[in-house]
Amino acid sequence: MLENLDPAAPDALLALIKLHAADPRSDKIDLGVGVYRTAQGDTPVFAAIKAAERRLVETQVSKSYLGPEGDMGFVHALMPHIFGTDPTMGGRIEGMQTPGGTGAVRLAAALAKAAGVTRVHMGTPSWPNHAQILADLEVEPVPFEHARADGTANVDAVLQAIRGAGPGEAVLLHGCCHNPTGIDYTPEQWDAIAAALADGAVLPIIDVAYQGLGHGMEADAVGLRTVLAAVPEALVAYSCDKNFGLYRDRVGAFYVMARDGGQLPAILSNAAALARANWSMPPDHGAAAVRLVLDDAELAAQWQDELGVMRARMRQVRDRLAEQGLAGTIDLTPLAAQNGLFSMLPLSREQIAMLRDDHAIYMAGSGRINVAGLTADNIERFIAALTDVAR
Ligand code: LMR
Repeated sequence: MLENLDPAAPDALLALIKLHAADPRSDKIDLGVGVYRTAQGDTPVFAAIKAAERRLVETQVSKSYLGPEGDMGFVHALMPHIFGTDPTMGGRIEGMQTPGGTGAVRLAAALAKAAGVTRVHMGTPSWPNHAQILADLEVEPVPFEHARADGTANVDAVLQAIRGAGPGEAVLLHGCCHNPTGIDYTPEQWDAIAAALADGAVLPIIDVAYQGLGHGMEADAVGLRTVLAAVPEALVAYSCDKNFGLYRDRVGAFYVMARDGGQLPAILSNAAALARANWSMPPDHGAAAVRLVLDDAELAAQWQDELGVMRARMRQVRDRLAEQGLAGTIDLTPLAAQNGLFSMLPLSREQIAMLRDDHAIYMAGSGRINVAGLTADNIERFIAALTDVAR
């Protein structure tokens, strides 16, 4: 039976981690998978998380099961940061913990399917796993162009997709720090998107995987909150992988905003059943540490400071690249206005291979770079290599 399985292609992003690790060149540069790096090239555990983990070890009295919804203290502690001063929108929002942002996207898409969604409009390019998850669930992705060649968002494309969509359709939006382009909608564009969504029948699914890495926790929530204030119902997938630095601990959450709070128990009972069939229960440790951070004013302030340092460093890298202007034929100017870990460079497959083979510079095959992989020690070499391959 098992001989029927043909080898599956490895996930291209995750394969890059191994390729980079196996490269013996000491001056190699990793701009591949989306993890934050300090100016020294490290991805440390947040000090606020370390302190919370110590407290967790001292105070946790049991590791007995919690249930498919996970740690509801964690789920609720995040809500004011995501949804603002009325975190339940008058009792219409509730959530559950998921294994990372991937678990949250998976749960949102599976629940949408169970509710009758058969097609999901999504801007392309997108995080490659979005399409993989939809394919696995046998939900049809309907692409629209996310960004224009000048490095700005194509808001007309998303508006057209929303206005043309009917019942049984959803639209998948990135809340902030778009992956892979770094190109976000402006607040005015979010207003237009929210108005189009309010008029239509399409279900919004909003993926928030990088809150706080763009302009701050509040500013990065503007798009999400604008949409939620306008629409009757929505699904939200949330990740703490990056903004709490918990990558491998798999910390995420799924939220639903219902038309009426009375619908929440039925909706969440379906989400819980899907979670039970998929992973039964989410891993506890990282989410418990986030809860302890958010419930303690001092640790929460320390976490915000640490997040601010990350954000400032990524801005510095972006500003240096943009100041360069042209690197060969590649215009780096738009990178200053883009947000988060990623930007996309218009490089051919051959140029990306040359960067890897001749210059030990690793990036996704799409031309996506993780700007946090650049430091004062390697950024000039990166610009020179780019200039060399893009002549
Ligand atoms: C990325 O896009 O690099 C990150 O979101 C990591 C992942 O799981 O793909």
